[in-house]
Amino acid sequence: MGKVHVFNAGPCLLPEEAIDNAIKALKDFKGTGVSVLSISHRTKEWEETMNECRALWKELLNIPDTHEVVFLGGGASLQFLYVAMNYLEKKAAYLDTGVWAHKALQQAQGIGEAYALACSKDKNYSYIPKGYEIPTDIDYFHITTNNTIYGTEIKEDMDCPVPLIADMSSDIMSRPVDVSKYDLIYGGAQKNVGPAGVIFAIIRKDSLGRVSRYIPTMLDYKTHIEKESMFNTPPVFSIYMMTETLKWLKSIGGVPEIHRRNVEKATILYNEIDRNSMFVGTAAKEDRSIMNVCFVMAPGKEGLQDEFMAFAKSQGMVGIKGHRSVGGFRASIYNACTKEDVEALVKCMQEFEQKNS
Ligand SMILES: Cc1ncc(COP(=O)(O)O)c(C=O)c1O
Repeated sequence: MGKVHVFNAGPCLLPEEAIDNAIKALKDFKGTGVSVLSISHRTKEWEETMNECRALWKELLNIPDTHEVVFLGGGASLQFLYVAMNYLEKKAAYLDTGVWAHKALQQAQGIGEAYALACSKDKNYSYIPKGYEIPTDIDYFHITTNNTIYGTEIKEDMDCPVPLIADMSSDIMSRPVDVSKYDLIYGGAQKNVGPAGVIFAIIRKDSLGRVSRYIPTMLDYKTHIEKESMFNTPPVFSIYMMTETLKWLKSIGGVPEIHRRNVEKATILYNEIDRNSMFVGTAAKEDRSIMNVCFVMAPGKEGLQDEFMAFAKSQGMVGIKGHRSVGGFRASIYNACTKEDVEALVKCMQEFEQKNS
């Protein structure tokens, strides 16, 4: 197999160093002679890794002391329910910017009163709604900062008059974030910070305990803060990989440096989409994501879609098929994707244009 360039939307590419270290740890975790897959989560060696992971999160994202970070199983989808269970008392508002945002809203509606304050479904979620006013009589406002399927992104931390909650599954650690502006940031690890199987939740500690309902122990964020994410058996291997991924991120210069790289990669790819007569981007320009780059064949070229897909595959491109609700192509250029990967895709797009004009 020749060199491949992986643009999967998630689970995604992980840094080579993290994979190399994992290969060793699969045989022998920290000289214990025990595989990381079999290590007890009650050992000193594991606790060290857990503490290191937590410390890396705090350092890399500048998480203030007011907040704590926990790691749990169940996927970001289960967090949709955690959010409502832990924060919804009377009413909550959601920004409906895509399938995931909508699913988060639906879970809240199963628990209490929740509604979409603004929605971009009228144009197949190709933009981020603007100009809405956030009411002050709600328990929280929920946003999805990066819409993985549609390639739109809220790139700034908004000022919000009520507690702000964000699903950052697909752009966490891609840019600096002012954590103090959020009561809760959560997401699945499998885009930017690790493999599938673990979620992160960064919780403002004093934001808990405001709801009157009974919260089942496992669904209560307080449980997991108190037990340092070890109330039950944690997803050990996924947390191990997350730690290795964050160690790599720190080694290259942390979040400011990865943000610079991500903007550079995205700019190269969007410039090519805008220049190339074969393709057009699907997301509104001002809302373009630096993580998921969505594009389709230009008007009149639609018949060439399968041909481009086959050509791209022959050149080693993996995972560029767009989500079925958008069609076309999507290149997910998360943190571990390199400038060389993006340049290879651009070359492929240019060669395809030459072949067909
Ligand atoms: C923005 C966003 N939120 C939530 C999810 C759901 O994550 P999970 O599959 O971990 O439940 C995804 C999955 O792609 C996503 O992209």
